[in-house]
This record gives sequence, structure tokens and C-alpha cells, in this order.
Amino acid sequence: MAKELAALIGAGHTRFGALSEGPRQLVRDAVDSAIASVDAGLQHAEIGEAFLGTLGFSGWQIGNSSAMLNEEGRLSGIPVTRIENACASSGFALHAAIRAVQSGHRDLALVVGLEKMTDVTSPRRRYWLGVSGDTEWERLAGLTFAGVYGLIASRYLDQYRLPRSALTEVAVKNHENGALNPNAQFRKTVSREQVESSPLVADPLTLMDCCPVSDGAVALLVASPEVARRFTDAPVWVVGCGAGSDALALQDRQSLTSLAATKRAAAEAFRTAELDRRSVSLLEVHDCFTIAELLALEDLGFAEPGKGAELTLSGQTRRSGRIPVNPDGGLKAKGHPIGATGASQAYEAFVQLRRSAGDRQIAGASVALTHNVGGSGASATVTLFRAG
Ligand code: COA
Repeated sequence: MAKELAALIGAGHTRFGALSEGPRQLVRDAVDSAIASVDAGLQHAEIGEAFLGTLGFSGWQIGNSSAMLNEEGRLSGIPVTRIENACASSGFALHAAIRAVQSGHRDLALVVGLEKMTDVTSPRRRYWLGVSGDTEWERLAGLTFAGVYGLIASRYLDQYRLPRSALTEVAVKNHENGALNPNAQFRKTVSREQVESSPLVADPLTLMDCCPVSDGAVALLVASPEVARRFTDAPVWVVGCGAGSDALALQDRQSLTSLAATKRAAAEAFRTAELDRRSVSLLEVHDCFTIAELLALEDLGFAEPGKGAELTLSGQTRRSGRIPVNPDGGLKAKGHPIGATGASQAYEAFVQLRRSAGDRQIAGASVALTHNVGGSGASATVTLFRAG
């Protein structure tokens, strides 16, 4: 097995949902709770560098949000860099922090993922979601962001001659998991009938196939392997990471039913980790729309093309199944504050591998994979974690 690249030594997570707190308060809460989670204690001033993942959706008009993180995180004037890769912003911010400690440049780095989405008007929200995909051929032609995934879902079901029940099953499962997560936006189970009879958003996707609009922040403390044990006896090791990109517009891609960026990211992550897929205990995948979870299972190498549906319908992706997927409720039920999602997935890996995930704990979890997608698949990160 390859050597560790870095370690998570602390993590903090605000609730996700339509929150009354502004972005400053969300950042403060996430950072403070990450620092409080470090077993041996940590001072804000010990952090050497910080990375902020955010799309900058907010109506709060904060342009230089890196400076805001320096203030609200009570950092000591260290370098802070904002990373914007649409919905994969904090997945990429995490990778930047891993590289900073892996290279020996820093002992300790902070990652914050943040988005405040519910305080902007609907047209402005549609604009920000739309510009995460292609503008010339998609947004300006009237395609909504849900519409992009609607096209992918239609093609997938048609190509593999599948009923929509596989999409439904993703929503039912993820709501069931979200009901057990105190930070989730939706803590309610939903029936198959409710999913299929909810209002149509972009054929074949209904309201219940979509992630919601959310506020929230997450903070992660990333240490070099050498210093991690100074702070905790139970570090969560980062053992692999990979990233990839693809064309923005669907029409410029090789396939409508597979994300090449995910495949590239997964190949790199498994190569660096020298791990077999059979050793992975749980997946946190980017299920912004139910169809995206099926594609992820296939592109990450856990199902053959077209067989993600079968894996899901057979119950193998449930918490008690062979390969549990999105035990925290996923983007579908936990919520999707764009810039916070990649960090939130790593938070789930952290609590699952430290056996502190409460009611949603996956028994015997030892290796976790997180998968964060930007836009409609133009960028992706994959990270592999191992229990310490
Ligand atoms: N899943 C389940 N329930 C949802 C929901 C979702 N995604 N979105 C809203 N609801 C519920 C609300 O809680 C509310 O319930 P209530 O009447 O019991 O209070 C009801 O549905 C209506 O909510 P509202 O906020 O008016 O919905 P909306 O029609 O404005 O928005 C969507 C619904 C699906 C269009 C919106 O959530 C959306 O755009 N989601 C996709 C976001 C996105 O594209 N993100 C980036 C992906 S990479």
C-alpha cells in the first residue's frame, strides 16, 4: 500500500439548509468547530495556510472572500487562496491543502467550503447555476442546469432500456440516510410514489430527483503525515487523490452517459493509493441529481456501464449493502451549498472512519472514497481516505 499523503486531524460542519446565519457566521462556526474537534488542542495561529472553496453565489457582496476567511477564521495573516471550480470548489481546495502539506511547504492547512444560496432571487440563482455549465450552447439557448442533467438522464434510460425506478431508488435511499444526519437539510424519508409524483422539473427529473438550494459551511484541518500524530491518535489518512477536467458543453463530450473527468480523477486516485476497489467501505458521490449517482458508480469503476441502476435497485448501495453510497444523505437530502459540498463529503469520510457517525455509522468502515463534480461534469476530484 502507498504511503500517506496527508491526514485529516479535525473537521467542523454547520447545518445545511435555508439558514438565518450570514456567510461570516457560517465560516466562524465551521472553523471553530473544526478546531474544537482536534484531540490534543490547536490554536488558530498554528495554521500555516488556508484554502477557501466557494462559487461566491452570495447576495452578501463579498468579493475578496479569502480576506473574510482570514478575519472570521481568526487566522494570523497567513496566505489564503480562494478556489472556484463550480460545485467542485472545495474538492479542489482540499487537494491544494493536501499538496501544501505533502510537499513539506506547510505543517498544517485549513480548508473551508462555503456557500450562501438562499438569500438571492430566483433569476440570479438560475444565472449562477447556469454559468457553472456551458453558456454559449446551453444557458443562452434556454437550457436550465436541471435541464442539462435531464438530457443526460433521458439518454441513459433510453440507451440502456431502463425504467425510471433506478432514479427513484437513489432519492428514496438518500432521503432515508439524510433522516439520520443532524446536519441534513431534509431529515425526512420519502416514498417511491412521492418521488415519482412530485412536480416535473426537467423530464424525466422530478423535484425529488434534484438536490435543493442550500446554505452551509464546512472546515477541515489537514496535517502533514509527520505532524498529524502530534494532534491526534486517530488521524484519518489521505492515501490517494486525483482530479480531471472535460469540455464544458455536453455536445463537445465523447459521451452523454459517462463523465470523463470523473474517470480521469478516479484513475489517478487509485493509482496513487495503490488500492483495489474491493477494499473501499463507502462512497460519497456527487448526486446533484439522482442520475448523477448512477453515472458516478459506473465512472468510478464500481459498476459496468449501464449497471449502476442494477447495483442500486438490488439494494447494494444502501447503508447495509455491499457498497454503501452517500450515508450522510448525499447532496439530494443533506443539501448542496455549492462551494461547501466537496469539504462536506470529506467530513463524512472523517466521521465514518473515526467511527463517530452516530446512527448512520457504516459498520467496519476502513476506507472511504469522496467524489466531487464541478458543473455538469467539466471537472472532478476523487479522494481516498483510510482509517488511522
Ligand atoms: N428535494 C426535496 N424537496 C424539495 C427540494 C428538493 N430538491 N427543493 C425544494 N423542496 C421542497 C421544499 O422544502 C418545499 O417544501 P414545503 O412546501 O413542504 O415547504 C417545496 O419543495 C417547494 O420548495 P421551493 O423552494 O419553492 O422549490 P422550488 O420550486 O423553488 O425549487 C428546485 C425546487 C428543484 C427547482 C430547486 O431546489 C433547484 O433548483 N434545485 C437544483 C439546484 C442545483 O441545480 N444545484 C446545482 C447542482 S450541481
